[in-house]
Parts: sequence; C-alpha cells; structure tokens
Amino acid sequence: MTAMRATRAPELIGPGPPRLLAGVSSAGAPSTLDEHLSVYGQLPPAGAIDLPALVDASGLRGLGGAGFPTATKLRAVASQRGRPFVVANGAEGEPISGKDKVLVRYLPHLVLDGAAAAAHALGAREAIVALSRADRDGIDALSAAIAERGGGLDKRVRLRAIAVPDGFVAGEETALVQFLNRGVAKPTFTPPLPFERGVGKAPTLVQNVETLAQLALIARFGPVWFRAVGTADEPGSALVTISGAVAEPGVYEVALGTPLRELVAQAGGVTEHVRAFLVGGFFGSWLGEREAADASLLEGDLRSRGARLGARAIVVLPTSACGICETARAMRYLADSSAGQCGPCVYGLDAIARSFERLAAQQSRDERKQLSRWIQQVRGRGACRHPDGAAAFATSALKVFARESELHLRGRCEGKRRVLPIPGIAA
Ligand SMILES: Cc1cc2nc3c(=O)[nH]c(=O)nc-3n(C[C@H](O)[C@H](O)[C@H](O)COP(=O)(O)O)c2cc1C
Ligand code: SF4
Repeated sequence: MTAMRATRAPELIGPGPPRLLAGVSSAGAPSTLDEHLSVYGQLPPAGAIDLPALVDASGLRGLGGAGFPTATKLRAVASQRGRPFVVANGAEGEPISGKDKVLVRYLPHLVLDGAAAAAHALGAREAIVALSRADRDGIDALSAAIAERGGGLDKRVRLRAIAVPDGFVAGEETALVQFLNRGVAKPTFTPPLPFERGVGKAPTLVQNVETLAQLALIARFGPVWFRAVGTADEPGSALVTISGAVAEPGVYEVALGTPLRELVAQAGGVTEHVRAFLVGGFFGSWLGEREAADASLLEGDLRSRGARLGARAIVVLPTSACGICETARAMRYLADSSAGQCGPCVYGLDAIARSFERLAAQQSRDERKQLSRWIQQVRGRGACRHPDGAAAFATSALKVFARESELHLRGRCEGKRRVLPIPGIAA
C-alpha cells in the first residue's frame, strides 16, 4: 500500500458537528482521550438513547465491504439468547485499502466509542478489536487508548485489542470468530452465523471498525446529522483509499455520491494518462476510463456500470500498466489466499489465475471461453464469499480489457509497469 495518510475533505468540515476524520491531528499522532473528547464530545450515557433506532433512521450500512444494514445486524444479535460479544473488525486484509489502519492509528478512541456503544446497547460485557499482526502502529495506538480509559469507559465493558494473522481471508467474519475461539483464522461453514453463535458460542456482533466509528458519531449527533451529506438512498460519508496514478494517494473522507473525478482531484489529480480504475478492492471491478468518467461513489451508480463500491478502495491504473498483467498478479494473490478448505476455491481460483498468467505471458492459445466458464463455476461454491469476490474481479477484467486480451493473443503488451501492491511481491 502506498504511504498511508489521512486527508480531510474540506467540504465535510464546517459549522455543525464534526465528521469522521475531523479529529485527526496535524501532528500525525494518535488522538489522546482529551483531544478526542474536545473534538467529538462525550458519548451520551448508556440507556439515554435507543441505538438500534438511531442507526436504523440513519441508514448506516456496513463499511467492511458487503454493505449489510447495521441496524438489522444489531437487532439480530439482540434477539438471540445469551450475553453477546462485540468484535470490531480492523483486520483489513485487502492490500489496496488503508482506511481501517488510518482510522485505528489516528482515531483509536472513536473506534473504541463505537465498540463500547454497541456493547452497551446489546448488554455485552466485552468488546474485542481485531487488528492485523503486521499493523504495529494500530496495535500500539489502540493499546495506549485502552490503557488511557482504564480498560473501559465506564468499567461495564471490557475493551480488548487482539492481533490476528495477516492475510486476505483472516478478516472474514467467521474466520475472526474461529480465531478467537480456537486460534485458527479460517472461515467456517454457515449457518450458524456469528450473530447466532460466535465468540464462546455466544451471539456476536462483528462490525467493521469504520462502521463502529460512524455508529459512535450517530449515537452523539443523530440520524439527521448523518443524513446531512450523501444521498437519500446512500446517506453519510465514508473513507476511501485511493492509490495508483494520482499525485496524493491516501485515505480521504468523502460524502457518498461524490463524483469519482472529484475524488481524483482531491487526491492531487492524475499523474499519467489513465487506462482504467479498479473500484472496490480485489473483490471489486475494473471500470474502463470512459465508463468511469461520470461515475460517482454510490453503490447504486456503480452497480449500473457493473462495479461495486465494496471496501471503497480505488486504484487508478495508468496506460503505462497493462490491465491483463495486473489482473494476473492480483488473481494469483487471491488464489494463493484461499484458506484451502473448499475444492472449487482451491482448484478453481488456481486454474483461473493460471489462465490469466498464460494470457499475460502472451501465449497464443485463446482460452477465454473456458476461463469465463471456470469463473461461473466457482461462484457461490465456497464456505465464504472469497470465490465470489475473485470471480467478480476476473469477470470485469475480461470485459474491460477485451482489447488488451486481443493484443496479448497477438503477442503484444502495452504496459510493463506494475501498480497493484501484492503482499510479498515487489511491484
Ligand atoms: C475473504 C473475505 C475477507 C474479508 N475481510 C474483511 C476485513 O479485512 N475487514 C472487514 O471489516 N471485513 C472483511 N470481510 C467482511 C466480513 O466478513 C464482515 O462482513 C464484516 O466485517 C462485517 O462488518 P460490516 O457489516 O460493518 O461491514 C471479509 C469478507 C470476506 C469474504
Ligand atoms: S471459500 Fe475459499 S477462502 Fe472461503 S473457506 Fe472455502 S477455501 Fe477458504
């Protein structure tokens, strides 16, 4: 991932309550509890608000990738028998995303507020924040913030930071639960889902750290404030990671509905001619330069273009890089990230990655029909959504880079530059 930086979006900061990144200090240090409270104020006392109702009215959806309505999940956990757990998911295994690391590193108290508020609302005694082992800055910031609170804001909720193994699949929710229960960070077959039977067999709310940070602001400022930006169907702001051929890659807070070209402008503009955009991370889709020209950061708009906002990670692919070669590298990473438990995922993703590798290497046999068939065959065939995410990504590559595929079959490649960060492989 390129240099991690949090940059505030000026139009989101003005009169009225602050939005998510308002508390990021220009000194580049994690905010202390005093600094945090001076920007965002205190959480309302437990029992003074109906959190699920506020979250419902705000329209908040999960920001970890799947976009599930947060209020529905809160109510589903609350409807189960037994004292629940809360797990804040900050594993962020997605290589092109840095938003959760930025959030935990700079605003650990906002994440803890969200976890504590959800725990209060559900009657949970413990909230666990799961971070990747490699995220040393995040673990240090969070541990210091927990210590500053004496372990919990009001002693009724125990707050804990847990380091989970690195890797793309470790942040999948059943993998996190299995890691917390048995020390194995691999997804499990569902049902039961974590809301039914999770940590210690208790109902468990697993929520992305950004979702919880947004929830902490909704608890303070309410749904009307939340809906003051964004659109009626997709309200609020969200963190977006942008990298590739832009002058100032980093993490930006934008109102949902912001045009993609405005985000690019905020990130300093493009540094080269653009071939395509990868939108939504490695489970997302490629969008051709023209298709992306008037796209906006809305799930609805992107869906109509065959893409998804997903984990809100965007890469600007310059013309000096080749879409087929970059897809082959990312597919290899996704295939190697399989947890090795489900046949279609283990063998299917490997076959798809090999096929893209042959195309990238300009081997002349045209196997695109077979490749499309393999992609269809892995969909819905895993214990988790890993094969489905990889299949969506591969499908978009075949569509958007049809011209590049033809060139490769004729022994030509237009770009040698490597742009996508693949863990363990130099660009
Ligand atoms: C292979 C895979 C990896 C995932 N990795 C993450 C992750 O690193 N962080 C995250 O928040 N969600 C991740 N998810 C989604 C989680 O399973 C879960 O939906 C999410 O944590 C729920 O939180 P939300 O509703 O607030 O988005 C992943 C899903 C899959 C299929
Ligand atoms: S689908 Fe793949 S990543 Fe998911 S559990 Fe099965 S083998 Fe593991």
